[in-house]
Amino acid sequence: SFSLSDGMCGLEPTDSLQCVTSTSSKILVKGGTVVNADYQQNADVYIEDGIIKLVAPNLKVADDVRIIDAAGKFVMPGGIDPHTHLEMPFMGTESADSFFTGQAAALAGGTTMHIDFALPIDGDLAAGYDIWAKKAKKSCMDYGFHMAVTAWNDKVAKDMEILVKEKGINSFKFFLAYKGYFMVTDGEFLQGLRKCKELGALPLVHAENGDAVAEGQTRIFEQGITGPEGHPLSRPSVLEGEATGRAIKLAHFVNTPLYVVHVMSIDALDEISRARAQGIRVVGEPIASGLALNDSVHWHSDFQAAAKYVMSPPIRPAGHDKALQAALANGVLQLVGTDHCPFTSEQKAAGKHDFRKIPNGLNGIEERMHLVWDLMVNSGKISVKDYVRITSTACAQIYNIYPQKGAVLPGSDADIIILNPNRTTTISAKTHHTTIDTNVYEGWTIKGNIEVTISQGKVVWDNGQLNVEKGAGRYIPMPPFGPLFDGLEKLDAARLRSYNPVDRTIV
Ligand code: URP
Ligand code: ZN
Ligand code: ZN
Ligand code: ZN
Repeated sequence: SFSLSDGMCGLEPTDSLQCVTSTSSKILVKGGTVVNADYQQNADVYIEDGIIKLVAPNLKVADDVRIIDAAGKFVMPGGIDPHTHLEMPFMGTESADSFFTGQAAALAGGTTMHIDFALPIDGDLAAGYDIWAKKAKKSCMDYGFHMAVTAWNDKVAKDMEILVKEKGINSFKFFLAYKGYFMVTDGEFLQGLRKCKELGALPLVHAENGDAVAEGQTRIFEQGITGPEGHPLSRPSVLEGEATGRAIKLAHFVNTPLYVVHVMSIDALDEISRARAQGIRVVGEPIASGLALNDSVHWHSDFQAAAKYVMSPPIRPAGHDKALQAALANGVLQLVGTDHCPFTSEQKAAGKHDFRKIPNGLNGIEERMHLVWDLMVNSGKISVKDYVRITSTACAQIYNIYPQKGAVLPGSDADIIILNPNRTTTISAKTHHTTIDTNVYEGWTIKGNIEVTISQGKVVWDNGQLNVEKGAGRYIPMPPFGPLFDGLEKLDAARLRSYNPVDRTIV
C-alpha cells in the first residue's frame, strides 16, 4: 500500500504511486545483528543526514532521534542491482517500468541502488547518455549507468573517453547477440576492449553467438515452432558457452578484466571457472531468474503464461539453476543482478504468432533480495555475510564505489535494510510495485521479509508502506580503475618482457 501524498513531491496525477516526505534525519536502528560482507556483530546503527555515523553496541541518543527496533533481525547494506533496463526502447516497444516506478519497486524489495544500461542513440553514446540522464531525473533512489557500445568508430572511442573522464561511467556493455541491432563483430569488440583497458573501464559482455542465434531462430520457426518454446530451442546454452569462452579469450589477449552479464548456463559457467583457475580476471553475474527458474515454463499451454519468461539468454533446463547457485556459493560467480526489463502482457502479445517478436525481458528488481535469501541462505548454501557480499558489497567493489555503498560502516551512505528471518512474504502481481500485470515468481512464498528499507538516511519502506520521493534519487558517479585493474600494468610489463624477438642480420 502507499501513504497519501503530501502534494509536495511533484508527482503527476497519472503516477500510480503516492508519497510522503520522511522528516526525521536522525535514526537509530537498535539491537539488530549488523552484517557486513566480512564481519557481523550485535550493534546499533546511528544515522544522520543520510550518512552512517556510528556502528556500536548500546548507543545512547537524544530525544529527537527516531528509534527503529531491530531486535532479532538482520541489519544489512541495501541491495545493489548491477543490471537493469528501465524505460528502455527495445524490440519495437519500451520496457514498462520508468525510473520512478522501477526504483519504487526496488526499494520495496530492499534494493537501494541500481546500475542501468544506457543505450546509444543511433550509435551515438553521448546522445544516449543525455537521454538517460534526463529519464533518470524522476528517480527516487540512487543509481549509476553502464553504457552500451553497439558500433565502432572514432566518435565512439572519443565518447567513451568523455563518459569515463567527465560523466562517471566506468563500464561498457558489448552485445555478441541481437544480430542487426546491438551486435558487434569480434573486430569491433576487440577495439572496444582495448579502449576499455586504456580508460580503466570494465568491459561487460552479453555472451551468445548472434549469428548462430539468428540461424537457429529461422530454422526453428520454419519447422513450425512459433510459440514461446521456440525461444529456448533456438538459442541453446552451447551458444552461450561459445560466446563466453570467445569473449574471455579476447579479453585475455588484450589483458583486460572482463565482466560477463546474465550468466545463465553451465556452459558459460565452465568457461568462467576454467579461466579463473588460470588466473584470468573474469567476473560472472548470474541473475535472479537464472538462479530460480528452469525452461519448462516456456511450454505452458497459455501463451501469456509462457511468454512472460522469454528473455535472453534464455532460462535454461533444470540443473543449470542449481549449478549457478553452487558457483555463487563457491566464488566462481561473484554477484547477483536481475536484468529487470519488464513488459506487460499486451507488449508480450506482439509475439503471439512468432516467438522472435516477443519482447525479451522479465521482472526481478523487487524480488531479487528475497529470492537470493531464500535460494542461498535458507537452503544453507551461504552465510548471511556472503548474502551481503553477493547482493551488495561485491557490486560496490567491482564498480569502484565501495565503501560509499555496500557497507554498514561509519561514513557510508545510509542505505540499509532490516530483514526479519521469521516472517514470510509472498510474491504476486496483485501486490508488487512494478507496473506490469504479471510476475515470473507469482505465488512464491519466502521465509524472510525485508520489513524496512532506508535510502539516503530516510525510511522509504516500512512494513508495507512505501514513502518515496520523485527526484530524491542521486546519480552516483563511478570512477575508473577499480580493483579489477589493480596490478594489471605489472602483468603487461611481464608480457612485454616475454616478447623476445630474434635479432637477425639480413644480408
Ligand atoms: O532479455 C533481456 N535480457 N532483455 C534485456 C536486454 C539484455 O540483453 O540484457
Ligand atoms: Zn512528496
Ligand atoms: Zn544482455
Ligand atoms: Zn540486460
